[in-house]
This record gives sequence, C-alpha cells and structure tokens, in this order.
Amino acid sequence: MSVRAETDPIAASSVYPSGSRCNHRGHLEIGGCDVVELAAEFGTPAYIYAEADLRVRADAYLAAFSSRTDNFEVLFASKAAPIRAIYEIAREQGLSVDVASGGELHTALAAGFDPERIYLHGNNKTEAELRYAFEVGVGHLILDSFDEIERASALLRAVGKQGQRVMLRLTPGIKPSTHSYIQTGQLDSKFGFGLADGLAARAVGTVQADPTLDLVGLHAHIGSQIFELEPYAKAIEVLAEFAVGLDIELLNIGGGLGIAYLEDDRPPAIEAYVEVKYEALKRNFDPLPRLLVEPGRSLVGNAGVTIYSVGTVKRIPGLRTYVAVDGGMSDNLRPMLYGARYSAALANRIGEPANSTVTIAGMHCESGDVLIRDTELPDPRVGDILVTPATGAYGYSMANNYNGIPRPPVVLCRDGGARLVVRRETFDDLLRRDV
Ligand SMILES: Cc1ncc(COP(=O)(O)O)c(C=O)c1O
Repeated sequence: MSVRAETDPIAASSVYPSGSRCNHRGHLEIGGCDVVELAAEFGTPAYIYAEADLRVRADAYLAAFSSRTDNFEVLFASKAAPIRAIYEIAREQGLSVDVASGGELHTALAAGFDPERIYLHGNNKTEAELRYAFEVGVGHLILDSFDEIERASALLRAVGKQGQRVMLRLTPGIKPSTHSYIQTGQLDSKFGFGLADGLAARAVGTVQADPTLDLVGLHAHIGSQIFELEPYAKAIEVLAEFAVGLDIELLNIGGGLGIAYLEDDRPPAIEAYVEVKYEALKRNFDPLPRLLVEPGRSLVGNAGVTIYSVGTVKRIPGLRTYVAVDGGMSDNLRPMLYGARYSAALANRIGEPANSTVTIAGMHCESGDVLIRDTELPDPRVGDILVTPATGAYGYSMANNYNGIPRPPVVLCRDGGARLVVRRETFDDLLRRDV
C-alpha cells in the first residue's frame, strides 16, 4: 500500500520524528529506514532515533536565540538521553552540556565536549564527583546546598585552586502545572536554595566570602513537561528581584519545555518558549546577563521511538485485551513512575486503521508493568512490531535490568542508513560486575 506524504498521518504527526512516514510496503519509516527491517537487523526492543530530527531541534533553539541576541547558550540537558553519540551530535550542533553526575560528565568528555562548556548539576554531588570535575576543569558548577559549598571549597583549597566559576541553584517558589514528581521550582523541594526562606541570600553571602568560588550566575529549573510559558516569565521576574545588586553574568532558567506524547498534545513551539524567556529577561534585567537554557526532553523526546515485538495477545472477554511486548518497565519507566501516557502503533501495519482498544503490557513480573492502558491499534497479532513514539527522552536513561532483562540497543537513522551506537546488553554483561 502506498500513502502519499500529504495524506500520511505519520508524516503529519507531531509525535513521530520529522521525516517519518508510511512507506510503500505499509511500514513505518524513520530517518529513511524501514522500521520492520530495523527490527529484523537489530532485534527488539530497541531505541530508534532520527538523527536529522535531533539536529533540527538543536538548530531551532539556536535560531530562536540568534535572531534575538548573541549573548546566550543552549545546554543539552543530557540526563534525557545520556548516549555518547547524542552528546556528539549536541556538540557538533554547537550546544553546551548539562551533566548531573560523574557518569554523565564522563560520557560528555568521551564525546569530546570541551570541559569549559560543561555545567555540573546535582543535589548531592559526591566528593569523588567534585574531585573529578575539578581535575578535568569543568567550566561551571551549579551549587545546590550548604554542605556542597563546604565540600567543594575544601577540595579546591586542598589543590590550591581559586575562583572556580559557580552558579547557585534557586527554588523561586513557582509551581508550573505538571506532575508533582517533575515540579522542581517550589520551595518544598530537595533541590537548591529557597528564596522565600532566606537560604538563597545566605548562600550568596557564603559563596561571596569564599575565594575558592566565584559566583557568576543564578540557576532555576521550575519543572518539566511544561505547556504554559507564563511561569517562566514569572520565574525570571522573581530571580531578577533577587539578583538586584549581585552583578550576575549568567542566568540559567532551566529546561522543561513540554513535548507531544499524544497526538492531541499541543506544546508551545521552541521559538515561543525562547521568546517568552528572552522578553522576560529584557523586561527585568539591565544590563542583560547571558541567558542560558538547558532543554532535554524537547531536544530528544520526539526524535526517538521504541520498537518491540508482540509476544502474546490475551483477550479477556468483555473486559480487556492485553498485548504483551518484549520490554516494558525496564526500557520505559515513565508510565509506572508518574503515570505518563503514550500512544502506540504497529510498524508493520502502519497504514491500517486502528479498530481495537488494547492495553500494552510489558514482560516483567509486576501487574503495574503496563506501558499503555487502553490505546487503539489494528487488531494486534503475535509477531507484530509495536512502536511507541515520543520515547526519545528518559527512556534509555531510566532503563534498568529488572528481571535480568538486558538493556536495548540504540540505533541512529539518517537518510536510509542505520548506525548502531549502543549495542544490546548480553546475558554476560549482567554478570560482568560480579566478583
Ligand atoms: C536542572 C535541570 N535542568 C534541565 C532539565 C531538563 O528538563 P527537560 O528534559 O524537561 O527539558 C532537568 C530535568 O530534570 C533538570 O533537572
């Protein structure tokens, strides 16, 4: 079956990577690659990314800023997809990078990032992580607590280093409407220094009195999967009030732009997100600090899909049909962690109408291992290749080995060519750390 691009719901969809389509065989095609062939070549489950889509989204951030100012920096929040090849793409596109652990720092360095362009986050960075960061010369450390200030300062004193550039992570007391687990800017948070409780002001004094540290900026990340832009403007206003008299060189207002997980989701465009932040900066600061943003999900989420094989179809008459796939909570924890909703399709029958309501279950020993409750598919059969779009963010990074399931490979597709960038784990990998 052939579907012309303009009538192809996949090509028109906002949940699939741009350039995806239904090909002449009636199969889903991503980055010019037939997904059914990818399943045969790389096995399932697998994470599939469209490389061009990753680059387009990075470009969209850069273009939105460049048309307004040259005093900006876009950081890839790498926790969304800490995959060396994706760090490399981010670097090649001209992004800086936000890392949230020693492991992410290590991967960013392996991908060739200049340490100067690395920003180290984390609400409990260990002494070993801080030492590593100082050894490699990480450009900016985002301080999160008084204990960390003390720890960082002691380590810097021990090596005789002064003036490490640091930023303070603040909780401006803004609560965007998103799941409470991914709200981070409210006062009652494990992250950062509160403005309302006076801890932020105390932290400024502590850092300024310490010659090992050079306070160059403020940071706030108010949450993730945000569709309303107004809370960002509000956060910038609140931070500007706090910054009076501080001589701030950098203002990092986090990531958080939402994406389309479901066809009806209408997240704001990257351009609108940048406009709101930059306009708020102009209204509230004089002179303007350098504006930093650190998107994760909106760079990689819709660029990736996960593919599975259907293994069983269990029909409970009058109640529900469970379609079990060869993955689940080990490759996509978000539905179980915070009730995240996804859609699904059959990659081998992508042009067929969805005529049955089914529940997509994983293969793990938990009743809660359900990827999608009540979604529409063409009547599914054993051996179908099931695809869940919009799984490019926080799928790979939260993957685990529950039930001894090896973690899936990562494949980048571009112009019809597929590149394996992370191989599938093997059973032997599961034993590799045993002593
Ligand atoms: C400090 C910080 N910056 C950036 C991000 C990226 O957020 P998102 O992927 O929603 O853009 C996060 C996500 O948790 C974060 O904690």
